[in-house]
Amino acid sequence: MNALTSWLFARRAAARAKRARGEAPPADPPRHIAIILDGNGRWASRRGLPRTAGHAAGAETFRQIATYCRDIGVEYLTVYAFSTENWKRPRQEVEAIMDLLGKYLRESVETMERDHIRLKILGDPAMLSDELRALIDETAEISGRYEGFQANVCINYGGRDEIVRAAMRYAEDYRSGAAGQLTEELFSGYMFSAGIPDPDLVIRPGGEMRLSNFLMWESAYSELYFTDVLWPDFTPADIDAAVAEFNRRDRRFGGIKK
Ligand code: IPE
Ligand code: IPE
Ligand code: MG
Repeated sequence: MNALTSWLFARRAAARAKRARGEAPPADPPRHIAIILDGNGRWASRRGLPRTAGHAAGAETFRQIATYCRDIGVEYLTVYAFSTENWKRPRQEVEAIMDLLGKYLRESVETMERDHIRLKILGDPAMLSDELRALIDETAEISGRYEGFQANVCINYGGRDEIVRAAMRYAEDYRSGAAGQLTEELFSGYMFSAGIPDPDLVIRPGGEMRLSNFLMWESAYSELYFTDVLWPDFTPADIDAAVAEFNRRDRRFGGIKK
């Protein structure tokens, strides 16, 4: 058994043990949690594995955390999987990430109806492979058929890129007379995230304290939570800790405490 497989077995066993213990999920989960999936490369390097093994482990973590978020009553989970800046990485690493995203989407097409998970891809699909684009269309078509928990996966996503695209599309509509005076609400409708409520909580594992171009428009009033845990090591208990911290925060939105 290689290092990655034994890690996977141990992780699944720990999740089963947690469920068997019947540990209580956190009360009052936020409606929308967003996560910057960071730390895959360091996780692998620390184990003497190639960075790509970290991305494979991170994909498994995402499956588990998405299921957990759905089970505790979160309505939307948005994850940052590949940024508009990540194309700067070595070609081999980019290809490995794209292969994993394809594998994830192929599996999702088979399981999302059974598991009641809607899946939306946020980002510019133009630079993605034909296969990935077809899978994105297929998951969108399946998601349109039912209600329920929604996972949003940001691929070739950049917060600034999203705003620029929205501005260009609005300008076209304004010129043609299809759109009127611009308001914040109207502009939100031009984002990749149109129709999705803003994230209440943004979590960044991996120890960095920055947003790295994630949801620049949508996170204006999100609560931010940073942890040193590397994404592949992230467990439902880390979600519980972040939610507990979120519930201690006083969200004032510019007002004053009542
Ligand atoms: C996040 O992990 C995955 C992507 C950005 C695609 P990293 O690959 O950034 O991992 P670190 O930050 O180098 O450890
Ligand atoms: C942010 O992580 C992007 C994703 C997780 C997809 P990075 O690892 O690319 O961010 P920086 O380079 O540390 O800011
Ligand atoms: Mg990183």
